[in-house]
Amino acid sequence: MPTLVIVGAQWGDEGKGKIVDVLTEKADIVARYQGGHNAGHTVVINNSKFVLHLIPSGILHKNTVCIIGNGVVVEPNALIKEITDLKKRGIKVSDNLLISKNAHLIMPYHIALDSASEKTRGKKRIGTTGRGIGPTYVDKMARTGLRVGDLLTPEAFRGKLATNLKNVNFLMKNLYKAPAFSAKKIFDEYMEYARILRKHIADTDVIVNEAIEKKQNLLLEGAQGTLLDVDHGTYPFVTSSSSIAGGACTGLGIGPTRITGVIGIVKAYTTRVGSGPFPTELHDATGEKMREKGGEFGATTGRPRRCGWLDTVILKHSAAINGFSGIVITKLDILDGLDTIKICTSYRYKGKTYKDMPKDIEVLENCTPVYEEVGGWQESTEGITEFGKLPKQAQAYIRKIEELLGIKIVIVSTGQRRDELIMLQEQF
Ligand code: GDP
Ligand code: IMO
Ligand code: MG
Repeated sequence: MPTLVIVGAQWGDEGKGKIVDVLTEKADIVARYQGGHNAGHTVVINNSKFVLHLIPSGILHKNTVCIIGNGVVVEPNALIKEITDLKKRGIKVSDNLLISKNAHLIMPYHIALDSASEKTRGKKRIGTTGRGIGPTYVDKMARTGLRVGDLLTPEAFRGKLATNLKNVNFLMKNLYKAPAFSAKKIFDEYMEYARILRKHIADTDVIVNEAIEKKQNLLLEGAQGTLLDVDHGTYPFVTSSSSIAGGACTGLGIGPTRITGVIGIVKAYTTRVGSGPFPTELHDATGEKMREKGGEFGATTGRPRRCGWLDTVILKHSAAINGFSGIVITKLDILDGLDTIKICTSYRYKGKTYKDMPKDIEVLENCTPVYEEVGGWQESTEGITEFGKLPKQAQAYIRKIEELLGIKIVIVSTGQRRDELIMLQEQF
């Protein structure tokens, strides 16, 4: 009867999708609690690759109910495309997909505002995915957002849209010198989306809590990662939602007492897409090797991901903020063939040592990482499913991470495919 949160421990793209898919085998419900189609969660089954953006990564198991929670922001056109693409590939997407009435809608003007504000920032841009995520959460907090449930009441929808467009079109004309949005065009477009999505719209908080009462197995799937969290990440170079484990409670309507475990997904090295501090980033051949071998190009935007060594300063912060009950190490195989591997254990800046993550962005941007070096291994770890079969140095690397963080490693992932992993502790 566990209710487990799966959360990214770094800057996203840790391999959450793969792990959620694997654990879904025994889950009744998989629910996304925040973010939107800025996420790209990859699942590889045999030789077929699926990239999920808004739909939970449990969708490839036909008997599991997938929920898009109230904390998610939904671009209906992107969602419909994702549903259509999955169906074309023979995946069941019908009454097994539910969308919260309270989830906010990404509107065309949010996307325009996202790119306009990035342009205004110039060199200081965040490097967003350009999906309208930030402006949609702005409207949510300003209490002017349109929600999925509004799709079901056309006249109310029309009125709210007209009010919002007054402000939006003022900005478009006077600040951004961009064309105005037509209320009629957006209304007609969204009513067509309403027709298609209507059957999926539900009071998902009720469904989730009933499932908990019935002692079912639930997976709560985070998007992005802890360092991209709007409160606890490297602000302002973050996304606009609560990606940490706590976000699962607000983003789905589940009380904290119902959460039974929090699994942190940790890539065996570190990556980041977009701008912002990254103390252990490598600008050399090793970083390039990680990017090439690890296929480190954004699943959503295709942008090359910045790569670097594992950083236990940020991971300790992550562990504290999320309260990890266990950790999954992914992409161990990408480190095969290195002579030595570095693990960052503290930062140095202006003569001071930082063992806890500095909150000051200037320190994070300019600090020098202090590393411990461990031996690499030359053998391939790809596809290994037993811990004892890993090269001794790979075993030592895993144990070293466990020791530095003081948290049990429950799974080690050794390849893209579902079956390429070492299960050290069953989760259900
Ligand atoms: P997510 O956003 O956290 O779900 O991660 P992404 O899907 O954006 O990026 C992770 C990438 O690594 C995907 O291409 C996965 O297929 C791949 N991946 C996940 N685990 C492993 C692993 O253990 N080894 C290798 N080689 N690839 C992996
Ligand atoms: P998954 O779920 C990695 C990054 C963007 C940018 C910042 C803000 O696949 O791990 P946004 O469009 O959210 O306003 O962009 O956040 N970002 C991600 N980076 N993985 C993701 O999702 C991300 N979603 C957003 O690159 O730096
Ligand atoms: Mg991703």
